Amino acid sequence: MTSTQGLDGGELQDQAVLVTGATSGIGRAVALQMARQGADVVVHGRDVDRGAATVDAINAVGGRARFVAADLADAVELQRLVDDVGGVDVLVNNAGFSWFGPTADLDLATFDALFVSDVRAPYFLVAAFAPKMAANGRGSIISIGSMAGQIGLAGAAAYGATKAALSSMTRAWAAEFSPRGVRVNAVAAGPVSTRPQDRERFDALGATTLLNRAADPSEIAEAVGFLASPRASYITGAVIPVDGGRTAI
Ligand SMILES: NC(=O)c1ccc[n+]([C@@H]2O[C@H](COP(=O)([O-])OP(=O)(O)OC[C@H]3O[C@@H](n4cnc5c(N)ncnc54)[C@H](OP(=O)(O)O)[C@@H]3O)[C@@H](O)[C@H]2O)c1
Repeated sequence: MTSTQGLDGGELQDQAVLVTGATSGIGRAVALQMARQGADVVVHGRDVDRGAATVDAINAVGGRARFVAADLADAVELQRLVDDVGGVDVLVNNAGFSWFGPTADLDLATFDALFVSDVRAPYFLVAAFAPKMAANGRGSIISIGSMAGQIGLAGAAAYGATKAALSSMTRAWAAEFSPRGVRVNAVAAGPVSTRPQDRERFDALGATTLLNRAADPSEIAEAVGFLASPRASYITGAVIPVDGGRTAI
């Protein structure tokens, strides 16, 4: 079975998957990938219209999805998402944002917001869902990290630190939950062309990779789909670079 085979009879059939930040970019591509692999997908984000558009795109290929809105920077809304979703077989921690610029230009509020969205939110989602997965004896958690968490990128000290934290938590969660059947991994993505307004930065970063280009969101989604599937049954605690070779040099 390939990762593009799916829907009914797919390798993730009857599995409930939550993809955070699936209203755009990488998360949207991951949600589509999961649906193609047969999962029942909860599409999460804040923007209701773009959430509906992701659900429509999934329905259009014969997949199953519903949208739940929540601002993960708000602890009450995060808990409401957890209560609404109940339990999941696969959690994809994708929601987040980046800030690039001179260290001295980052204000306190944005620094805190970065750590709330990119570190605190995935932490408490794993705290909510992983124990239930462990009680079931199975599950898969995949977080979207970044090459910025692995290497020194000028202008990315704070953002890189959030993704380094995510890598660290990935290893600690694997140690905590994998003995009870839950695989926990991260994908450390290179530059991915998502927001048109950031095109120049993606292209400039893409030029520093061995493949000399930024990724398409679907190329990150393929790796996530693999990690979610039984084909990755012996992989846990791994932070897998999907970065056009950028961190190899
Ligand atoms: N693009 C890259 O080059 C790249 C590289 C490495 C890693 N990443 C990581 O990949 C992930 C997705 O990035 P992207 O480029 O696809 O970004 P994007 O297109 O801006 O999408 C971000 C998603 O996260 C959601 N989100 C952000 N903050 C949220 C919050 N507080 N509560 C709820 N939802 C929130 C957004 O929801 P709404 O739009 O509905 O508000 C949106 O769905 C991020 O974690 C990012 O750090 C990106």
